[in-house]
Amino acid sequence: MGNLNKDYQWRISVLMSAAVFLILLPLIYVVFGSNSSLANTTRMNKILNWSNGRNNKSLSNHQFVEEVQGDPATDLLVRRLVRGRDLIKLDATGFSCDLSVNSDVCVSKEPIRIDMRSMTVYLSPKQSLPSMNWTLRPYANKQASETMSFIRKVEILRGIEDKPPPPCDVTHNVSAVIFSTGAFSGNVFHEFSEVIIPLFLTTYHFRSQLQFVAVDYEAWWVSKYNHILTHLSNYNVMDSVKDGKVHCFPGAVMGLKYHDKLACNTSEIPGGYSAKNFTKFIRDSFSLKINHVMEIENPVLMIISRKRTRVLLNENEIVALATELGFRVITVAPDQMSNLNVLSHQINSCSVLLGVHGAGLTNELFLPERAVMLQVVPLGLEWASAAYYSDPAKQMGLTYLEYKINPEESSLLEKYGKYHPVITDPAAIHKQGYLALRAVYIDGQNVTVNLSRFRGTLVQATKLIRRSTP
Ligand SMILES: *[C@@H]1O[C@H](CO)[C@@H](O)[C@H](O)[C@H]1NC(C)=O
Ligand SMILES: *[C@@H]1O[C@H](CO)[C@@H](O)[C@H](O)[C@H]1NC(C)=O
Ligand SMILES: *[C@@H]1O[C@H](CO)[C@@H](O)[C@H](O)[C@H]1NC(C)=O
Ligand SMILES: *[C@@H]1O[C@H](CO)[C@@H](O)[C@H](O)[C@H]1NC(C)=O
Ligand SMILES: *[C@@H]1O[C@H](CO)[C@@H](O)[C@H](O)[C@H]1NC(C)=O
Ligand SMILES: *[C@@H]1O[C@H](CO)[C@@H](O)[C@H](O)[C@H]1NC(C)=O
Ligand SMILES: *[C@@H]1O[C@H](CO)[C@@H](O)[C@H](O)[C@H]1NC(C)=O
Ligand SMILES: *[C@@H]1O[C@H](CO)[C@@H](O)[C@H](O)[C@H]1NC(C)=O
Repeated sequence: MGNLNKDYQWRISVLMSAAVFLILLPLIYVVFGSNSSLANTTRMNKILNWSNGRNNKSLSNHQFVEEVQGDPATDLLVRRLVRGRDLIKLDATGFSCDLSVNSDVCVSKEPIRIDMRSMTVYLSPKQSLPSMNWTLRPYANKQASETMSFIRKVEILRGIEDKPPPPCDVTHNVSAVIFSTGAFSGNVFHEFSEVIIPLFLTTYHFRSQLQFVAVDYEAWWVSKYNHILTHLSNYNVMDSVKDGKVHCFPGAVMGLKYHDKLACNTSEIPGGYSAKNFTKFIRDSFSLKINHVMEIENPVLMIISRKRTRVLLNENEIVALATELGFRVITVAPDQMSNLNVLSHQINSCSVLLGVHGAGLTNELFLPERAVMLQVVPLGLEWASAAYYSDPAKQMGLTYLEYKINPEESSLLEKYGKYHPVITDPAAIHKQGYLALRAVYIDGQNVTVNLSRFRGTLVQATKLIRRSTP
């Protein structure tokens, strides 16, 4: 009963704030939409005065901050990242987290300070709220405990008596977005699935009015994804360790929203972002010219040419076959795929992207709409092939085709023989755990496709390209 009552009150207060917000909307526009320097000065003062108070050592944490208020523009941006009870909590306290299976995202719609040395975020304390001590690791793969253990921790504090907020060294007029570039990344699938797409989902609606703060900053990573980062923020990514100062912001987002493998789901937070919105954003970021496969006059087929594991052993014959069927063929090895500024244009001009299941297929996201993603599915990797590259390809508006190999086409047949469980019962190997599965099917297998059967799949690809209309 008590709870119901509380719930009811929460809801009333949310409705009230929504109503007040709607009434204020024109005003907000006038104040923040205009370039009035007076408005900017007022905003800056609000943030700065908090620090003036702090410098007065005789003031306790609680006395000077009671008036700290978020500005409506920040409120509008961060509130899209929480829903339901989390949103109610945001309105009541200025801070809230969306905790999910794969990632934690915390937001503050009120001014915060970040001490870059210790990666501590100080929320504005308030007498009416209990003190708080919370940590999160700003990377979207919570279930991978080993990976997560390498991710720098962010400590979030409010009103801890013996740890008062330090004074600001630098004051910003846009919100901070804290994320990890992913310690030990270097696998293009993980880079896109766990950082780049989550960055897009979490921040695209900020319209570049945000400051990225990277923990685990990697210069090569920032340089590799420069085109994407500059299309999400007007400011250079900050390296928290190198900076080492105290920065003050009108609000903050800590951690990134994750939906699924290489996926954007329109019904999940922040709402309305589809995989097609993401591929459009990618085309804009890299200035890719081709939107639809129909715009390509002479069909081009690219083969992702793996060299060590899951190698296509008769790649030369496949090149000859594709050439005979009228394709111009390009082969690219994974180690030639790190310069995205070149690669994205190359892939964007292809009608067909062909490769054995593996991280390189992530580059399907540069293909024009209705181009063919042709995945060669090795033995024992059906589930991964579907979840990692087939489902996302369909959501991106590509035409997905696959060539599932028979035991005769796998190097595993020769190694284990026809009657071994590796060949006859992959499910039994899967049951032994990821390491066993990995050793056998992921690292221990090469492929020699049956050319007469493969021809059928390639012919189908040529038909699909010709038939597709914008
Ligand atoms: C925010 O600060 C930047 C400089 O850091 C300045 O160029 C910009 O005009 C400011 N914008 C607002 C809205 O205050
Ligand atoms: C902040 O302090 C300055 C003087 O230190 C004062 O002029 C200004 O009005 C204050 N701003 C706010 C928003 O309280
Ligand atoms: C610091 O705060 C105390 C208590 O409110 C006040 O008496 C004092 O004048 C303040 N000092 C300065 C430098 O603002
Ligand atoms: C926050 O809590 C952790 C453990 O729960 C503790 O180690 C840490 O010292 C606390 N930080 C502060 C500032 O109280
Ligand atoms: C998208 O999210 C909704 C709500 O969480 C879920 O029901 C739906 O299955 C998701 N769609 C896909 C394609 O995963
Ligand atoms: C996503 O795509 C749809 C359909 O093209 C479009 O109406 C919508 O505005 C896009 N959303 C964003 C955030 O770009
Ligand atoms: C797969 O092929 C590569 C390149 O020829 C070779 O180095 C590797 O040992 C082969 N792996 C297996 C399991 O046969
Ligand atoms: C290749 O595939 C064709 C057509 O499916 C089949 O008739 C032939 O026996 C296969 N060749 C080998 C060596 O398995």
